[in-house]
Amino acid sequence: EADLYTLYKGVYVPSYLHPPQSLKYYEEFTFRPDDIVIVTYPKSGTTWMQEIVPLIMSGGNPASVETLHNWDRVPWLEEHRACILNLERRPSPRIFATHFQYNMMPASYFKVKPKVIYVMRNPKDVFTSSFHYYGTTSFLVKPGPQSEFLHKFLNGKVMFGSWFDHVKGWLNAEDSECIMYISYEEMIMDLKDSVTRIALFLEKPLEAEVIEKIAERCLFKNMKQNKMSNYSAVPRDYMDQTKSEFLRKGIAGDWKNQLTVAEADYFDAVYKDKMKDVKYKFAWD
Ligand code: PPS
Repeated sequence: EADLYTLYKGVYVPSYLHPPQSLKYYEEFTFRPDDIVIVTYPKSGTTWMQEIVPLIMSGGNPASVETLHNWDRVPWLEEHRACILNLERRPSPRIFATHFQYNMMPASYFKVKPKVIYVMRNPKDVFTSSFHYYGTTSFLVKPGPQSEFLHKFLNGKVMFGSWFDHVKGWLNAEDSECIMYISYEEMIMDLKDSVTRIALFLEKPLEAEVIEKIAERCLFKNMKQNKMSNYSAVPRDYMDQTKSEFLRKGIAGDWKNQLTVAEADYFDAVYKDKMKDVKYKFAWD
C-alpha cells in the first residue's frame, strides 16, 4: 500500500494517477466563476455525469461525447493528465471532475466558488462497485477477501478516504448555494427529471425533446456502447475489464447480491453511528 498509494492531506490517493506534480498543479489551479465541477466519491456516478453535463451544455449536440474520451471531455483536476491538457486555454464554461473531499479543495475554489454538482450514492452500492473495480486495476491495492475490504472501506483506508467524511464534508460546505446535491438513486429513478434539474441548476434550460434525447443517450445500456465513455480504450494490463467491466451493472441495490446479512447489519450500524448528526434526507434511506 505504501507504494501504490500516497497519503495526501490525510487520505490515500493512487500514486500512479496522482504524482506530486499533479497534486501541486491542482493546489495552484485557478478556477473561474462559471466553471462546472462534478464532485464524487469514487464509484458514485462520475462517468454518468461526464456524459450528462457536456450534453446539457452543448444543448444536446453529441459531438463531444462521441469524439472525446470522458477523461479529456471532463478531466479530473487531480489526475496526472490535467497538467498537459492546457485547461487554462479552454473556453468557458469549462467542465471538470474531482474526487477530492471538501477540505482538500485548493484555495482558489473557496475564493471563486464555481458551480459544483455533488453526486452521492448508497454507500453499500459504492462498496459493491468498488469491490469489483479494485480487482481490475493495476494502480489500486487488490481488494482481498470481501470482509477485509469491507473493513478498509468503512475505515477509509481506500482511495480518497472515508465515504462518510467525503459526504459529510460536502454536505456541510459553507458555499452550499453554489452546490447541487443529487444522488445516483434519483438518476436511476427518473433520469429525465434529473437532467431537467441539472440543466436548471446550470442555467441552461432545454426543450423537453432535447432533455429526452439526452436522457436516452445516458441510459446505462447506451453509454455502455459509447467507446468514448466505456473505458475500452484503456489497456488491459492497466484495467482488466475481462474481470469486471467498468460499466458493470448500473443499478441501485446491487449490495443485496454482494453483502451477507451480517455484513449488511454491520454496515448499517457503522452508518448509523457515523451519520447520526446528518440531517440530509438521502434517497436510499
Ligand atoms: S469512477 O471510477 O469513480 O469514475 O466511477 P464512477 O463513474 O463514479 O462509478 C461507476 C459506477 O457508475 C455506474 N454507471 C452508471 N449507472 C447507471 N447508468 C449509467 N449511465 C451509468 N454510467 C456509469 C457504473 O456501472 C458503476 O457502477 P456499478 O454498480 O459497478 O455498475
